[in-house]
Amino acid sequence: MQKLAAGNWKMNGNSAALTEVSALLDSHPAPACEMLLCPPATLIAQMAWAARGSVLKIGGQDCHAKASGAHTGDISAAMLQDAGASYVILGHSERRADHGETDAMVRAKAEAALAAGVTAVVCVGETEAQRDAGETLAVIGAQLEGSVPAGATAATLVVAYEPVWAIGTGRTPTIAQIAEVHAFLRARLTALIGAEAEGTRLLYGGSVKPSNAAEIFAVPHVDGALVGGASLKAADFGAIVAALSAA
Ligand code: 13P
Repeated sequence: MQKLAAGNWKMNGNSAALTEVSALLDSHPAPACEMLLCPPATLIAQMAWAARGSVLKIGGQDCHAKASGAHTGDISAAMLQDAGASYVILGHSERRADHGETDAMVRAKAEAALAAGVTAVVCVGETEAQRDAGETLAVIGAQLEGSVPAGATAATLVVAYEPVWAIGTGRTPTIAQIAEVHAFLRARLTALIGAEAEGTRLLYGGSVKPSNAAEIFAVPHVDGALVGGASLKAADFGAIVAALSAA
């Protein structure tokens, strides 16, 4: 399995920020893990051009479940692919919260991604209230079961565990909490997709920084990270890439 360092730029960055891409590729031209950046849709084609001939992969942050049609403002998986993306983040908690995305919607989008040859990065994670109520594994299990697309394989699916309360807060779960959820994800995914689950990358996301990356990457069944804020700067994301390469 090739581990995956993924950056989610969210609604940040314009063409001037592409200097971060060249800086990242100058400092990490051939890391021992896969590197992925998911910029806003407006930057996908430009970033793909900036990354041409390099190991850096580009991804979208959402797609529509349909291949084309009268859906103003939406983008299909095939369009992402045409712009240079090979991955798409789906079901991020910010989209589940801001746009009311349900597990069924996430699964439909993920199936559209697979049909377009785009790897789906399906996000799951509990809120703080759900963790406090002891519902973490039940919530994550239900999200996984409801969101994983039919026919998913290790090559076409990545699962990201992002506790909602750890996103952008500087707070992270304990190593034991991350280990518990990731072992649970591997087992549940095996029940859903069989042997392909073994090679499916399970990412941790939520306040991953250069200072905590190495200890998170040492956790069993953590096969990489989905990084928000720290992916915007080449120096920080590069340090996380280096930590994953060394893990
Ligand atoms: P932060 O790394 O900024 O906490 O964001 C995590 C995230 O939501 C990545 O998708």
